[in-house]
Amino acid sequence: MNRRQFLASVSAAAVLPLPGFAGQPPLKLKAETVSQQILPEGEGTTAMLGFNGSMPGPEIRLKRGARASIEVENALQEGTAVHWHGIRLENRMDGVPVLTQDLINPGDSKTYSFVPPDAGTYWYHSHYISQEQVARGLMGPLIVEDDAPLDLDHDITVILSDWIIDEDGSLVDEFTDIHSVAHAGYIGNFARGFLSRSEVQQGDRIRLRLINAATNRIFPLSISGVSGSVVALDGMALSQPRAASDLVLAPAQRADLIVDVTGPVGFDMPTRQEPYRLAELSISGENTDRQSGPPPTLAAPDLPAPGAPAQHLTLTMMGGAMGGRHGGANIWSFNDVSDLPQDSFAAIERGETVRITFVNDTAFPHGIHLHGHHFYELAADESLGDLRDTTLVAAGESRDVLCVFDNPGRWLIHCHMLSHAIGGMRTWVEVT
Ligand code: C2O
Ligand code: CU
Repeated sequence: MNRRQFLASVSAAAVLPLPGFAGQPPLKLKAETVSQQILPEGEGTTAMLGFNGSMPGPEIRLKRGARASIEVENALQEGTAVHWHGIRLENRMDGVPVLTQDLINPGDSKTYSFVPPDAGTYWYHSHYISQEQVARGLMGPLIVEDDAPLDLDHDITVILSDWIIDEDGSLVDEFTDIHSVAHAGYIGNFARGFLSRSEVQQGDRIRLRLINAATNRIFPLSISGVSGSVVALDGMALSQPRAASDLVLAPAQRADLIVDVTGPVGFDMPTRQEPYRLAELSISGENTDRQSGPPPTLAAPDLPAPGAPAQHLTLTMMGGAMGGRHGGANIWSFNDVSDLPQDSFAAIERGETVRITFVNDTAFPHGIHLHGHHFYELAADESLGDLRDTTLVAAGESRDVLCVFDNPGRWLIHCHMLSHAIGGMRTWVEVT
């Protein structure tokens, strides 16, 4: 078999429900080796890493504004650290080895404690040799619940990823293959979604929380059997709901939809051949009580409004295959510097609004993530666009963003194509 070809679609497979988070505060995550049914039922299982015996890790649900304590126990043979992606938390809880914490060594534990300020869809993942540890399975969903429950029949998480996997189910150890690092990164030959529920009723009104937990794959998505709209991106409610056509999720990005179920729900990735089925929800019966009418609205994000920019920074992505020469010592760089520099890329005073122009001077798309903050994408007419923590910049294009840096500490900026991050596309800013 050509491992570069997709295996059969999962459509015939029983949907594996995500384990619910059974723990009571303080929550506990145990990083350990797990065996998971990634391939369709009846095929081989896959030896991976996970949390509490499962991959993806359990869905953590937190209350907005309430302090959460999550103990991470490391039962692996190697170090680890956990990052709470998209949460605007205290810097020392950000989970970044060297920059914000020491590694959690094998046999050790660390308790992360933070107050999530925003309701929405987030996720957690290893931030140590992350290209490899995330590809091997150290990730899971993190939901910050709305202050008041919305009028919905179900709230369903769909976490997507892909892996290079052999026919017998074993993961292929090509996590840091140099050729893929210089190109689009580790891209799986098998992809699927894990859902927190497997069935819905015809007529249900549901929320879908989509999370792209793949290390490098951009998922274009088409969702059948529903009618509704996108209501949030990267955890933050949109000011106006938006049509769900042309949905694209870069690695680490999330999208929330509120939709009415009109038939069996399919999550498909369009490909040059037939669409590739990632996950589905089957129909069991009909919901005759559901009143139609306008869908519930999410609370607006509560972030400081940007002021006049105190600085205008430019971060130029360089390198990679077909990317030409650059001054960095690794495959990729920002502004001719590869990997984490000793000194921060920029010093920012707490509360400053900063404009950043991300310039993609390479032959590949990059999903650029800023830790500890959300930023506004700026439209061509300079109006404030979506609030994001990860922005996808196509090859040869650029994107301007505006960020109020109100969170003190040392914050990473890196490509969330994790192969590119290990290939050098990482830097950091310091907010004091
Ligand atoms: Cu999703 Cu640096 O992280
Ligand atoms: Cu990249």
